[in-house]
Amino acid sequence: METPTATLNNGVQMPMLGFGVWKIDDPQWCEQCVVDALAAGYRLIDTAAIYGNEEAVGRGIARSEVPREEIFVATKLWLQDAGYDSTLRAFDVSLKKLGLDYLDLYLIHQPYRDVWGSWSAMQKLYADGRTRAIGLSNFYPDRVEDLLLNFEVPPAVDQLELHPYFQRPDVLAYLNSNKIALQAWGPLGQGRVGMLKDDRLAGIALKYHRTTAQIVLRWHYQRGVLSIPKSSNPQRIIQNYNIWDFSLSDSDMAKIAALDRGEGKTDHRAPETVRRLNGMTLG
Ligand SMILES: NC(=O)c1ccc[n+]([C@@H]2O[C@H](COP(=O)([O-])OP(=O)(O)OC[C@H]3O[C@@H](n4cnc5c(N)ncnc54)[C@H](OP(=O)(O)O)[C@@H]3O)[C@@H](O)[C@H]2O)c1
Repeated sequence: METPTATLNNGVQMPMLGFGVWKIDDPQWCEQCVVDALAAGYRLIDTAAIYGNEEAVGRGIARSEVPREEIFVATKLWLQDAGYDSTLRAFDVSLKKLGLDYLDLYLIHQPYRDVWGSWSAMQKLYADGRTRAIGLSNFYPDRVEDLLLNFEVPPAVDQLELHPYFQRPDVLAYLNSNKIALQAWGPLGQGRVGMLKDDRLAGIALKYHRTTAQIVLRWHYQRGVLSIPKSSNPQRIIQNYNIWDFSLSDSDMAKIAALDRGEGKTDHRAPETVRRLNGMTLG
């Protein structure tokens, strides 16, 4: 089945489930995972300059039998390229690495350094038709509001950490009220917080004859949140896409809502996060 889409605030249709490629570092394996993901039905690939795998993603897209115009390709601007001129240059570099002549979504990866300069450049890239949409990542409502108040083109998307242990209902409500789509990174809890082994999720999974990962991805979808699970395992790539032929009842949605611990991995307002991310540079 075709991936359901969300209508962005500029009218563009964006798949609600996509494939993330962070930490798929081996170039050949990354290329193969992209080919496998597209064959499995995914129509959105999420990469970033800092992941170092844009070329592999581009080769996977080129090798796949899915036409380019049916694939929603997103990449992100890294911190060292913040600012007007450097954003324009970085966009060209990313596009060249991906082997594409336009992008579907370009995101500012982190809310630091010269965000205003970057957003001005993003507006130009959008106005020139070089990317179909522009957006943010890891921007909390205060930083989003600052852009909304001072720029003509609003962000279409904000990509943020979000999963059943970190549900951010206030952030979701804020973005919904401003017609900005929330796309969840770490939608499966990054396999880190043991969330996929949670007995309560496992109980729901048993009831629907699904895996806990499928239950979590279905929960994101029914909550109106876009998500981009990553897997480098061929079976899990297929499994994570197949969430369209069942639906969670209201009471099971409520049970998952009750799992929120308000606990994320990264606090983008914490000085140590700002230091750590500022210290990461493109190779
Ligand atoms: N904007 C940002 O700052 C930011 C930050 C982080 C991530 N992202 C984006 O979001 C994407 C997803 O986030 P993420 O990769 O951090 O975390 P994630 O998708 O929540 O989790 C990925 C982890 O879960 C495992 N996994 C996947 N499917 C599974 C399944 N069905 N059963 C059990 N384990 C499973 C994966 O292992 P296997 O590979 O072995 O299956 C991997 O260890 C990234 O790839 C990237 O594109 C963006």
